[in-house]
Amino acid sequence: MHKAHERSPGGAPGAIRHARAYELASALAFAGSRRRIFGRLVALAGVRVGDEVLDVGCGPGYLTSLAAQASPGGRAVGVDVSEQMVEEARRKRAGGNCSFVLGKAEALDLPDASFDVVLSSLAIHHIPEEARGQAFAEMFRVLRHGGRVLIADFQPPKGRLARHLVGAAAGETMRDNPVERIAPMLRDAGFDLGATTRVSWFLHCVRADKPL
Ligand SMILES: C[S@@+](CC[C@H](N)C(=O)[O-])C[C@H]1O[C@@H](n2cnc3c(N)ncnc32)[C@H](O)[C@@H]1O
Repeated sequence: MHKAHERSPGGAPGAIRHARAYELASALAFAGSRRRIFGRLVALAGVRVGDEVLDVGCGPGYLTSLAAQASPGGRAVGVDVSEQMVEEARRKRAGGNCSFVLGKAEALDLPDASFDVVLSSLAIHHIPEEARGQAFAEMFRVLRHGGRVLIADFQPPKGRLARHLVGAAAGETMRDNPVERIAPMLRDAGFDLGATTRVSWFLHCVRADKPL
């Protein structure tokens, strides 16, 4: 069985190519609460009218589109390393103040200090471990001073059976995801740490600010 977290031959490591299947799986996995949970992420990041928001590892763009709705007069840009994801996001959700670009989290082709908020959900564990520090440094670079970052990533379950099931279904990257390293890596990138929150049993969220 193909597991989304196994490195595919060719293409960027961590990229998910099956965009439509991912969109369907994501809607099912959230069991009717995707809007509420992703809406909570937008609220935790403090997205407001006029904000310019970047969603890193945006996939098919669900969170990006909620951020766009929360920032009329601003804009939301989703970036993803997978061409298929960017195509799907554009097909379903681009328009108005919501757009999508192809790019790597660890080498963003975006100007310094050009966003008020950076969001990222369920994407950090896809980025090769050796590139994660650089990805956080890039988020810091593209944020304005006083800007906010909100990182949400998969928190593996503690129980042995549940961990085994996650490993079997999604692979060891997800089963062993070291979410506790996110906060120190954000601090190393220069951020002031804010709250760490659990949004649902599987989403570990860290909020941090770029100093003024
Ligand atoms: C599990 S999906 C999450 C998508 C979306 N954020 C969500 O919450 O539904 C992870 C996404 O990260 C993207 N990705 C993986 N490595 C990346 C990288 N180095 N830079 C940007 N995106 C990356 C994948 O292509 C995929 O679309």
